[in-house]
Amino acid sequence: MSRFTPKPWPRKLRSQEWYGGTSRDVIYHRGWLKNQGYPHDLFDGRPVIGILNTWSDLTPCNGHLRELAEKVKAGIWEAGGFPVEVPVFSASENTFRPTAMMFRNLAALATEEAIRGQPIDGCVLMVGCDKTTPSLLMAAASCDLPSIVVTGGPMLNGWFRGERVGSGTHLWKFSEAVKAGEMTQAEFLEAEASMSRSTGTCNTMGTASTMASMAEALGMALSGNAAIPAVDSRRRVMAQLTGRRIVQMVKDDLKPSDIMTREAFENAIRVNGAIGGSTNAVIHLLAIAGRVGINLTLDDWDRLGREVPTIVNLMPSGKYLMEEFFYAGGLPVVIKRLGESGLLNKDALTVSGETIWDEVKNAVNHNEDVILPTEKALTQHGGIAVLKGNLAPNGAVLKPSAASPHLLKHRGRAVVFEDIDDYKAKINDDALDIDETCVMVMKNCGPKGYPGMAEVGNMGLPPKVLKKGITDMVRISDARMSGTAYGTVVLHTSPEAAVGGPLAVVRNGDMIEIDVSARRIHLDISEEELQARLAVWAPNAPAPQGGYAQIFHAHVQGADTGADFDFLRGCRGAPVGKDSH
Ligand code: FES
Repeated sequence: MSRFTPKPWPRKLRSQEWYGGTSRDVIYHRGWLKNQGYPHDLFDGRPVIGILNTWSDLTPCNGHLRELAEKVKAGIWEAGGFPVEVPVFSASENTFRPTAMMFRNLAALATEEAIRGQPIDGCVLMVGCDKTTPSLLMAAASCDLPSIVVTGGPMLNGWFRGERVGSGTHLWKFSEAVKAGEMTQAEFLEAEASMSRSTGTCNTMGTASTMASMAEALGMALSGNAAIPAVDSRRRVMAQLTGRRIVQMVKDDLKPSDIMTREAFENAIRVNGAIGGSTNAVIHLLAIAGRVGINLTLDDWDRLGREVPTIVNLMPSGKYLMEEFFYAGGLPVVIKRLGESGLLNKDALTVSGETIWDEVKNAVNHNEDVILPTEKALTQHGGIAVLKGNLAPNGAVLKPSAASPHLLKHRGRAVVFEDIDDYKAKINDDALDIDETCVMVMKNCGPKGYPGMAEVGNMGLPPKVLKKGITDMVRISDARMSGTAYGTVVLHTSPEAAVGGPLAVVRNGDMIEIDVSARRIHLDISEEELQARLAVWAPNAPAPQGGYAQIFHAHVQGADTGADFDFLRGCRGAPVGKDSH
């Protein structure tokens, strides 16, 4: 049973501070909006719904969201609301430099103020590409007005010469194949055309699909939203139903803080394990939790995900793509399985006003090769492993389902790259002293170091190793990794090198050990030697000066707490500010 008690309706909403009455200020606000041809009776106190749209021509993953917004509007009108579409900052994963992650917090800040400063009673968060989902959820959490997510949906399957092509996953695979001499450049170019066959987000269980799943698992999207392909007519139906639903949420005053509880975050972490979700979800959920004042930690990720089998057979961990996941029944089937296994907080509330269990209990699995029986799980220990030790005192993460089992316990000689440029300069040089037993270490790619914490942690292997047919090595960095990537890759090492974390003082030839089952990462030098090196450490680059980069560098926190800005954590609500004309 849900513990939520709807507020009585009708009552005065915040939009009436702009549009209700006959004062000079109200006539100013209302009169201007009437230039769009709205009849006077639309300003009668009905919920004004902000459709916060991350559409952009340069965010192709969200390129169809303007059309989809029309369906959201239709639903809002039907339910007696007043839709207003508001464009917000759109950080495209495949376009923004130095990296889209540098702009997640800016997008969250801009969206937060777009909500707070305008006559909006409830929000539809129209998202899709990786950073657009967490940034708008962070903003909604900080304002705490009724809010609901609708994603743009994944692209259709890619196909090349009879085989599925997964977004990102096959880009890395084909690129390595070219380096290894197994694929020609001409074939690579031919394959390019097969990768993105329709509008929508990455079709693998990459970060976009993961974050869509996280939104649904948190209870912030209608059940079944995550997997519907972008071009399927049911995506448009979902948009319209979302529009209808947000109007009632405003009337009931069902807010993000009612939905995104600790129980909801625990559910999302377990769902991430079950779907083999992206390591990026760790950072984003920590940041969103920080906005609603929930003390979610890396230890929660390790503890809650540890016993969750990965049952969704999707790339990069498995074989299929989001289209097949939808046909198999999608996320409700997965959540139901967790509920049957005692791994779900069944009473967690969702945007529907019902509990998550009520939403999924009748889900049916239509394809047991896509959503696997528990005994055939890709791994019985999915989730995210959090490693700690003298190399990562605050933690580092690894995705076991994307790693090579034989490397999960490994000791090897460090080959160090001081930053991404150093890596690029050396990796293709056959004179580089490296073999497959080595541990590749890259520094200065964390939140402050890159800056922005780029998805470069899955460093491509050296050609001379690839040519032996070797496809994986242990790699360690303070970077992130694309959710579409794979490998035995230790990421988010904290504290990062750019603030003087131990990663900064690793040297070529040091021995490094990882033991994932023991959750251990160790730089095999004495404590005295480690402290001596740290004592003479200095940053390898000055802090950026001017503009947003300066704000970012000054305020971004570590990956271990979500890389949010220190001054943006917490819920500030959406009070109605002053106005006078
Ligand atoms: Fe936008 Fe993958 S790059 S969803």
